[in-house]
Amino acid sequence: MAIADVSERSIAELVSLAGRTAVVTGGGRGLGKAIAARLAEAGANVVIGDIDGSLAAAAAEDLGRRSAGRVIGTGMDVTDTASVRAAVSLAEETFGPVGIWVNNAGIFPAVPVPQMSDELWDQVLAVNTRGTFVGSREAARSMTAGGKGGVIVNIVSTAGFKGVAPGLAAYVSSKHAVRGMTKQMAIELAPAGIRVLGVAPTYCVTEGNQLAAAENPDRTSSPEDIPAMLTSRLGRVGVPDDIARAVLFCASDLSMFMTGSTLLVDAGEAA
Ligand SMILES: NC(=O)c1ccc[n+]([C@@H]2O[C@H](COP(=O)([O-])OP(=O)(O)OC[C@H]3O[C@@H](n4cnc5c(N)ncnc54)[C@H](O)[C@@H]3O)[C@@H](O)[C@H]2O)c1
Repeated sequence: MAIADVSERSIAELVSLAGRTAVVTGGGRGLGKAIAARLAEAGANVVIGDIDGSLAAAAAEDLGRRSAGRVIGTGMDVTDTASVRAAVSLAEETFGPVGIWVNNAGIFPAVPVPQMSDELWDQVLAVNTRGTFVGSREAARSMTAGGKGGVIVNIVSTAGFKGVAPGLAAYVSSKHAVRGMTKQMAIELAPAGIRVLGVAPTYCVTEGNQLAAAENPDRTSSPEDIPAMLTSRLGRVGVPDDIARAVLFCASDLSMFMTGSTLLVDAGEAA
């Protein structure tokens, strides 16, 4: 199917996600929660899936109170296909066929190459890369069955474009793979009216990377030093909503003629 020409629609219509069903993986905290918040504010009905079900439930309750769309939370492990399918079924039964799927769940343990075990490599690839594949496949099935197409947004990283800090070989590899997957899935899913886009954030302060810094004192001198160390060209460190707004753009009809690309949200890092 040809993608709609939306030239005649107003800005408000283009940004609105009213009536759409969105799923955000790893949405219990950090970037995922901020993304869920903006999608729900734009009117989408959102399922927050997170391996920590209580975190997902708490995030849903928080966002549901202040959003146009409805928000529910569920336990979901992106490395477990049955669990991903259960989240899709929950979304379909509660809100209707999936229209927006955000592959955000990710892990970023820092272990130098000589010390990295096969198991850790496999775990990072299982969550970040296979989890993105499984989520996209299940979302594509729901979108195809719904007959209206949809948008899949993959949260990549600047680590999908280059090597970064020591200890991140598995992470950098996993994110390069997700950027490649974004291109390939865009080609394969376009005939079904499904657009696939990536968003590649630079460093943003989240619970996850503050914990990682605390656990790996060699990676940064201390969590408190991170903002001072990583102040961007734009004069401050990124916050989760900086990324969420880019995801909203990708998920909405504002980006209607885009698929396969990964948007850098890097405060000029690549400039
Ligand atoms: N924060 C950054 O600076 C940054 C930069 C670039 C890319 N990213 C990417 O953004 C995404 C989110 O990062 P964050 O900083 O918000 O992390 P975070 O650790 O704060 O949040 C990640 C969430 O994912 C959940 N999760 C982990 N494994 C899961 C699994 N198997 N199934 C379902 N949920 C799972 C966690 O419980 C957590 O709630 C990741 O893909 C990360 O690689 C983050």
